[in-house]
Amino acid sequence: MNDVIGKLISLEGVDGAGKTTHLAYLCDYLVKRQVTVLTTREPGGTQVGEQLRSILLDAAQPIAPLTELLMMFAARAEHIQKVIRPALLAGTWVLCDRFTDATYAYQGGGRGIDSQNIEVLEHMTQGSLRPDLTFLLDLPVEVGLRRRRGLDRSQDRFESQDLEFKQRVRLAYLERSETEPRILCMDGTLPIEAIQYEMGKKLGQLFEESAL
Ligand code: TMP
Repeated sequence: MNDVIGKLISLEGVDGAGKTTHLAYLCDYLVKRQVTVLTTREPGGTQVGEQLRSILLDAAQPIAPLTELLMMFAARAEHIQKVIRPALLAGTWVLCDRFTDATYAYQGGGRGIDSQNIEVLEHMTQGSLRPDLTFLLDLPVEVGLRRRRGLDRSQDRFESQDLEFKQRVRLAYLERSETEPRILCMDGTLPIEAIQYEMGKKLGQLFEESAL
């Protein structure tokens, strides 16, 4: 994407990896450096995207894998056109709670959709737009599940998948982090301060590079 002056940063991980806590930290880190920041999420971030999200997450509503894949990209197309691209063009840094790596992990790894098909949709929807930096919070699926159990709400459609599905998702994320240098894989079981120290270092590097 030419003419872009902001940065796109995504946060990824299996359910219960602690993305929400760390997203707030990243936002704070940038705001303190006078960066204009937009925090958003996928699926979601627009009116249509949030409506698609509620269908996608509804545990009472079975959805075929291909439909699920297309809905993720439909929400993403709307998000990019209406929110992400205009923000990046205006110099805003966009912090996104999940992006296309989640599609490779959940619909690719989890549902077994061929990653070449995902690549086709990625290209159609995003052109050359990719995150500048991605933090992957990795942790054993069982640990994520234990953390989620503490929450006072029912499980969504992805949380209610079996353990094998979640393990395939984790593995797909890990494999992707080995082939994509922009993905920084972090041990999500470490204390919050240790994770955020590493995040701050990496974000600081990107911030300094962008100021050159
Ligand atoms: P979360 O935002 O609370 O993590 O929930 C979003 C859920 O949607 C999560 O279980 C992962 C799933 N998801 C996909 O399956 N594919 C995608 O492309 C994205 C963005 C999310």
